[in-house]
Amino acid sequence: MAKYVINTLNKKSKISKEIYGHFSEHLGRCIYEGLYVGDDSPIPNTNGMRNDVVEALKNIKIPVLRWPGGCFADEYHWMDGIGPKEKRKRMINTHWGGVVEDNSFGTDEFMELCRQLECEPYVNGNLGSGSVQEMQDWVEYMTFDGVSPMAELREKNGRKEPYRLKYFGIGNENWGCGGNMRAEFYADMYRRYQTYVRSFGENKIYKIACGPNSGDYNWTETLVKLAGRFMDALTLHYYTVTGPTWDAKGSATKFTEDEWYTTLFKTLRMDELVTRHSEIIKRYAPDNNIGLIVDEWGTWHDVEPGTNPGFLYQQNTMRDALVAGINLNIFNKHSDTVVMANIAQTVNVLQAVVLTEGEKMLLTPTYHVFEMYKEHQDAQLLDSYIETQMIGTGKNSVPNLHESVSINSEGKIHITLCNLSINESYKIETEIVGKKANNIKARILTGQMEEHNTFDAPEMVKPKDFANISLTQEGLTLEIPPVSVIGITLE
Ligand code: AHR
Repeated sequence: MAKYVINTLNKKSKISKEIYGHFSEHLGRCIYEGLYVGDDSPIPNTNGMRNDVVEALKNIKIPVLRWPGGCFADEYHWMDGIGPKEKRKRMINTHWGGVVEDNSFGTDEFMELCRQLECEPYVNGNLGSGSVQEMQDWVEYMTFDGVSPMAELREKNGRKEPYRLKYFGIGNENWGCGGNMRAEFYADMYRRYQTYVRSFGENKIYKIACGPNSGDYNWTETLVKLAGRFMDALTLHYYTVTGPTWDAKGSATKFTEDEWYTTLFKTLRMDELVTRHSEIIKRYAPDNNIGLIVDEWGTWHDVEPGTNPGFLYQQNTMRDALVAGINLNIFNKHSDTVVMANIAQTVNVLQAVVLTEGEKMLLTPTYHVFEMYKEHQDAQLLDSYIETQMIGTGKNSVPNLHESVSINSEGKIHITLCNLSINESYKIETEIVGKKANNIKARILTGQMEEHNTFDAPEMVKPKDFANISLTQEGLTLEIPPVSVIGITLE
């Protein structure tokens, strides 16, 4: 019997809803086909945006969407994507798949998508190959209210009112695809470019610096030391890659028990990364005025057989669901510094929440985890502790259980609990300190480890009501089956 203690008297940080954010790049079929089909498409759409996908994303309360990349961001020249569509430049997306980019989805389309999704736009600027002037003009185009060349251009393109834009990223992976810079050089470039990223009128820009690749602590330290006072947040990118190399990542749907535990072991590293990068940030920003944004995270498997390797299209099983559950629990627990996270990527790319095929759409197991966790958005993290044991295969052992808990403004408690074991169920005895619950609702997402949804069977994996749980004098008792994620609401 595992002991689980939730202390409602110890309320911790607010779980910023942006932790449940998404990322969409001009990569493969994420934007084109996935989110945007154009207004002349037979697929039902509103101003070109797929109705089914928009509705699905609204259902998980998507809070923020990052665009246009990724590596694509540092090659993107925003002026190519505005004005009459027939006049927009056609070019090859050299970074991803070598396909034609016709620029039919640009700034105004992205803002329209965010309007339909009712989410915050997060625009990533081009520092790697774009000019300072270009970045300055982009912000002016989107946000300036008054007389200016860019505001006039926006009006000419059909939009008089400025857009509201809070989140602006100044470069992406500038240690790699965004220019192969050293930390010191990027810090100086960042200082220069951000000077011209202006907040106009009421529109206050939240400036986001390119942070480290996984465990590059030197990048974080150099950056916050040299440029910390000019930023609101910096990013962290960490992907869960099962295989030993990028050339042998492993199949998304066919894997061994050993690979199951290796994947979860690797994903749990996020906790250490967030902890150590946060410690460095706090050392230089003791007032907690620099946030950490994990704006690319998720699994990266081999692409589905027969698909363009540059499209990064992969399936999504219960293993991915556990990866999502664990990472979101980690972000919740670190919500004192993690102010945003963006899963890579929203549709048809990497650990997507939605897959499409022509007019068909399916929701992945990862989608269902986001849906079950949405109650955490803007709630307050509660102190909690669960007794665990290490399970798995030798060097890649992982704790059997993983959790986080929050309380919302109405006093409802939301618990999200993962069982990482492939074959063991566990009885859990929960003590809830400081609150007597009268009502309980629980749902479970479970299945075989390789189980996933296909276009022929799109509902193989979906949440169901969970009955193996009851209230007790101290709190509650339950038995969690293997390979599962449970969401519990207590009133
Ligand atoms: O998400 C795919 C790619 O991964 C992004 O373009 C890049 O930032 C990262 O390396």
